[in-house]
Amino acid sequence: MYYGQGKNSARRARWYKSVGNTANQLSLPPMQGLQEQIKLHEAEINSFQPKDAAELEAYRIKYLGTKGIVKQIFGEMRNVPNDQKKEAGQLLNSFKLLAEAKYEEFSSLQSATAGKGPAIDVTLPGTPIPMGTRHPLRMVENQIVSIFEKIGFSVATGPEIEDDWHNFTSLNMPEHHPARDMQDTFYVSQNPDWVLRTHTSSVQSRIMEEGNLPVRVICPGRVYRNETISARAHCFFHQCEGLYIDKDVSFADLKQTLYYFVTEMFGEGTKVRFRPSYFPFTEPSAEMDISCTVCSGSGCSLCKHTGWVEILGCGMVHPNMLRNFNIDPEVYTGFAFGMGVERITQIKFQVNDLRLYSQNDVRFLRQFESLP
Ligand code: PHE
Repeated sequence: MYYGQGKNSARRARWYKSVGNTANQLSLPPMQGLQEQIKLHEAEINSFQPKDAAELEAYRIKYLGTKGIVKQIFGEMRNVPNDQKKEAGQLLNSFKLLAEAKYEEFSSLQSATAGKGPAIDVTLPGTPIPMGTRHPLRMVENQIVSIFEKIGFSVATGPEIEDDWHNFTSLNMPEHHPARDMQDTFYVSQNPDWVLRTHTSSVQSRIMEEGNLPVRVICPGRVYRNETISARAHCFFHQCEGLYIDKDVSFADLKQTLYYFVTEMFGEGTKVRFRPSYFPFTEPSAEMDISCTVCSGSGCSLCKHTGWVEILGCGMVHPNMLRNFNIDPEVYTGFAFGMGVERITQIKFQVNDLRLYSQNDVRFLRQFESLP
C-alpha cells in the first residue's frame, strides 16, 4: 500500500536514482529501502580516506551539503509508515552523525592547508594600521623633563587626589589663608580633607617629607581647578614644578637654572625677566617672562603687544615650609618653580584655545605628527 504506487512512487524512484543505488529498490518497503541505502553509504564513508582538502571538500558536498545525501535521505522520512518513523529517525540520525564524524576526523586537513598555496599572496603590501601621534602636551612635558634631567633633576610624581596637608597646609597655606582663594578647588565630597590637587607643589611637599637631602626633582602632572571652561581656562591642566634644596642654594642658582631652561626650550637669544610676585610657599617670589618668541618684541597678539610673555612662577623656598618638614632653614636653602605645560605648548606652537588639547580632534592632533 505504501510503496510502488501513487505519486510517492515516482519521487522515490527519482530519489533512489539520485543517491546512486543500482538495486531495484522499488520492490523494497521504505524502511528496508532506507536501511539498504544507509548500509551502502556507510561502507563508503567508513573506507573514505581523503588525500587532500579538495577530496575532503568533495566529500562534504556529497554527504553534508544542502543537496547532499544526508539531506536527501532525511527527505525520504515522509514515505516511512508512521509506526516505523521512530526507528527510521534513529537510523537516520546515527547515519548523519557518522557522516559528520568522518568529516570532523579530517577537518585538520582544511585548516592545515588554509593559508597555504596561492590563495594568499604574501608579497602583496599589508593593510596599514593607522598610527596615533603623541599628544602635543606630552611631547612638551617630555621635553621639559629631559632639559632638567640633563642638569641632574630626577622625576617625582604623586597622587591627583591629595589631602589638605600636602596640597595646602604644609605649603605655608593654613586653613583660611587668603592665598587658598587663588586656586579654586574641587573638594571630594566623601571626605572634606581630600581635594583634587590644584598644583604639583603637593609632590614637592611629599618629597620633602621623605627627608632625603639634597633634593633636586622635577614634578610633572595633571592638576585641577574649579574654573569655567573657556579658551583661556580649563578645569584641568598640566604643570611641571621643580624643587632644589641643598646647602648654599641662592637666587642666582634659581636664575641661572631657569635661564638655561629657557635657552634650551626656546632657543639661544631668548631673554628673560623676573617680576616680583607672591606665593605663600616661596620668599622672595617672582614671575618669569621671556621675550616674545613670535614677534621678538615688536608686538603681537601672543605678547599682547608688550614684547614679553609670562611662563612661570618661582622663588626661594619659604623657611616655614622647610620647618614644616624638619629641615633647618639656617643650614639648607632652596628654590622652587612651577610652569603650566599648556602655556609652554601654546607659546611653542601658537595654540590659542586651551580646549583644543582635550577635544580629541584628530585634525588638531595630526598637526604634531612630524615633530620629534
Ligand atoms: N604652585 C604654583 C602655582 O600653581 C607655582 C609655583 C611653584 C610658584 C613653585 C612658585 C614656586 O601657581
